[in-house]
Amino acid sequence: MSETPANGRTPLDRTPQWAALGKHRAELGEQHLRGLFAADPDRGTRYTLQVGDLFVDYSKHLVTDRTLELLRELAAATGVAELRDAMFRGEKINTTEGRAVLHTALRAPRGAVVEVDGENVVPAVHAVLDKMAAFSERVRSGEWTGHTGKRIRNVVNIGIGGSDLGPAMAYEVLRSYTDRDLTVRFVSNVDGADLHEAVRDLDAAETLFVVASKTFTTIETVTNAVVARGWLLEQLGAGDEAVAKHFVALSTNAQGVADFGIDTANMFEFWDWVGGRYSYDSAIGLSLMIAIGAERFREMLDGFHLVDEHFRTAPAEQNVPLLLGLLGVWYGSFFDAQAHAVLPYSHYLSKFTAYLQQLDMESNGKSVDREGNPVDWQTGPVVWGTPGTNGQHAYYQLLHQGTKLIPADFLGFAQPVADLQPALVAQHDLLMANFFAQTQALAFGKTAEEVAAEGVPAELVPHKTFRGNHPTTTILAAELTPSVLGQLVALYEHKVFVQGAVWNIDSFDQWGVELGKVLAKKIEPALLTGEGTEALDASTANLVGRYRELRGR
Ligand code: F6P
Repeated sequence: MSETPANGRTPLDRTPQWAALGKHRAELGEQHLRGLFAADPDRGTRYTLQVGDLFVDYSKHLVTDRTLELLRELAAATGVAELRDAMFRGEKINTTEGRAVLHTALRAPRGAVVEVDGENVVPAVHAVLDKMAAFSERVRSGEWTGHTGKRIRNVVNIGIGGSDLGPAMAYEVLRSYTDRDLTVRFVSNVDGADLHEAVRDLDAAETLFVVASKTFTTIETVTNAVVARGWLLEQLGAGDEAVAKHFVALSTNAQGVADFGIDTANMFEFWDWVGGRYSYDSAIGLSLMIAIGAERFREMLDGFHLVDEHFRTAPAEQNVPLLLGLLGVWYGSFFDAQAHAVLPYSHYLSKFTAYLQQLDMESNGKSVDREGNPVDWQTGPVVWGTPGTNGQHAYYQLLHQGTKLIPADFLGFAQPVADLQPALVAQHDLLMANFFAQTQALAFGKTAEEVAAEGVPAELVPHKTFRGNHPTTTILAAELTPSVLGQLVALYEHKVFVQGAVWNIDSFDQWGVELGKVLAKKIEPALLTGEGTEALDASTANLVGRYRELRGR
């Protein structure tokens, strides 16, 4: 059991609301979704909510009205709304880093007031957006040329984590809105193969590198950017004077940018109150904005803002991020669910779940509370998933008949994207038939009696039976537009926030990534010269020795 923390907050698992949920869970027992639907013919319409363009069906969850009531009571008791309001007010709720958490200010409309340390940050946000828009337009129109006078046809974003996953994901999602004459690529891995493959067929004279790094100290990004600069200058046979036309930076660290050799006039700024994984709607989105244009980018920001406002103002009963966050708490602690699947039925969302992995797992993969006490409850789940229908032919077997409970979100769209040829448009109904069929099968399954009634031999009946009772959320929108993408991302951002608030963890730091970075710095010289190998643990020392042998050292 956790000790009562210094701030007097009762540990989550000792609150009466937690106890009430535990009791309720025991009473629910093995209640099946078949029974819940049979008992309430309106359940399929009653357990739905609308936020912006997103229609959210949560009827296929293992909950009753009482469960939802108890979960909302838990949210009230753990101060979710108070922490939310503190976030929107610009208070330093990222306590271990002493920072405000204001990604919501990045999409606040011009004229709004959001203060950090007494200063309204909205004018600066819009000044950067305007600078990005002007630059994007110059690149898109061909006015911005490279060192040799050729127009830019290739954009290579170099960044990692939050400085890669967001723009890379959104570029894929909004591909049908992009300027198809531009080639846009994303390089993140310190594995040289990444940069190699990204530039090998590009004309350097037509290539713009966008170096994206909040800190401008991240080893992968700086290493790749140095090599990219070398490649560019060698290809062009030019000196450092060529850099200004081919490199721009997205960062909070002007000094680091200048030290790298990028003119700070070509730097697009953001601020320490924007977390890396919450940053692609800041300057970090520049590559995306070049690809889709400033107008579409602003539509996306409006989508974010719409959900921000919903989260800030909607009553608890209708608050979608609150609901989704609480459902995750319910399954994690009361069903011992370890994972959460996000299964988009859109090819364009192929990188969406990878993006959510950082958003969710870097935010809520914590095991001490805000005061540093170990927590005794489940925190963030393993988030995973790939687009349907591909997953159906790979791992859905485990979802349907495995031993694990894995709640899943199904994301689908009524309209196929524009500009598909008619035969491909026709395929959309087949895609969506699968989308609806899967949540139906997961929820209701197929009983042994139903299988036997089909004449299946007795020995095969258990193999062909589907237990069902696998909870899912269905999120359906008319179309995958820039605004809808913004709405979806904001929805997940706030869901993650709700869970962190209930669990009393700091969702906005990421100390867990540091140890590996420090150790890698120590191991690198050992790989090169063998020096320091003896100080390593026996396993690592042996592996380093084997590696050196294989490298011929
Ligand atoms: O190592 C983790 C991390 O700090 C992420 O939180 C961040 O998104 C990523 O590295 C990249 O950091 P930066 O933008 O400073 O290069």
